[in-house]
Amino acid sequence: MNRKVVKRDFTRFLDITEKEARYLLKRAVLLKKMKKSGSKYKPLKDKTLAMIFEKASTRTRVSFEVGMRELGGNSIFLTAQESQIGRGEPVKDTARVLSRYTDVIVLRTYSQRTIEEFAQWSTVPIINGLSDLYHPCQILSDLLTITEFKGGIKDINIAYIGDGNNIANSWIEAAILLKLNLVVATPPGYKPEWTLVERAKKNNNFHFTHDPQNAIQGADVVNTDVWVSMGQEKESRKRKKAFASYTVNEKLLQRAKQDVIIMHCLPAHRGEEITEEVFERFQQVIFSQAENRLHAQKALLEWIITRNS
Ligand code: CP
Ligand code: NVA
Repeated sequence: MNRKVVKRDFTRFLDITEKEARYLLKRAVLLKKMKKSGSKYKPLKDKTLAMIFEKASTRTRVSFEVGMRELGGNSIFLTAQESQIGRGEPVKDTARVLSRYTDVIVLRTYSQRTIEEFAQWSTVPIINGLSDLYHPCQILSDLLTITEFKGGIKDINIAYIGDGNNIANSWIEAAILLKLNLVVATPPGYKPEWTLVERAKKNNNFHFTHDPQNAIQGADVVNTDVWVSMGQEKESRKRKKAFASYTVNEKLLQRAKQDVIIMHCLPAHRGEEITEEVFERFQQVIFSQAENRLHAQKALLEWIITRNS
């Protein structure tokens, strides 16, 4: 029987099931081990990834390109400005055209709606490489890093301190899916997506607060991110004022567990969301976190493409 496989997208963390998320994490651990032992594994031979980015990137772009190559495939990188999208070609046309050439598409956009529209019209899987609203690939990689440094994600107390931005929203989605122990602390005017907070609150292991000292109490893992995300540059001065008491510094860390680890998705602004001292003390974790983008996304690419072909 010729059963048509429905394509899957990763436009947000809640696009996958709990079982799939756990599978991807296990698979990422294995693919990392295989790479470290020098074994070559190329399930994506002759497959092509297209990336279209409206915003700057170092980690996302390079880790997807390298990952695709390591799995035997190719990739093409386009900025929105260099393609016809920048001159107004409709998203629904671009999505249908690229679907005829490629096997998977990674998008980095301002609006989450652009990614959703791409997913609606594309016949190949769409992966969110960051939007104003979400950054699911980052959180998948961060969960891999926690697994490595803490032996798993079960019963681990995770705190997120800072802006209620794309990183915070994706952490909350991961907490909903995987029932993580998560506390999020943001200033009053900078809350995450409130519908997500309300949904996560139904899970006893999730808390929201405006008090960073409260959030960090007993934490095994502390996450932070920039106060001024891409596209918010004009609000810079106002934001730095509002976030002044949310810096992750040594004093704040005294309230966490002794063996706490600090995570940052990068790029970091030392002296703002994190001090130089804390950043350098946890640089081993932070750069493993950056490395894990590669391994987690290889698991994602393998799953999303091969389940389709
Ligand atoms: N963390 C992250 O997504 O980094 P880039 O903006 O460099 O891709
Ligand atoms: N919140 C940051 C994340 C960068 C990876 C931004 O959107 O700029």
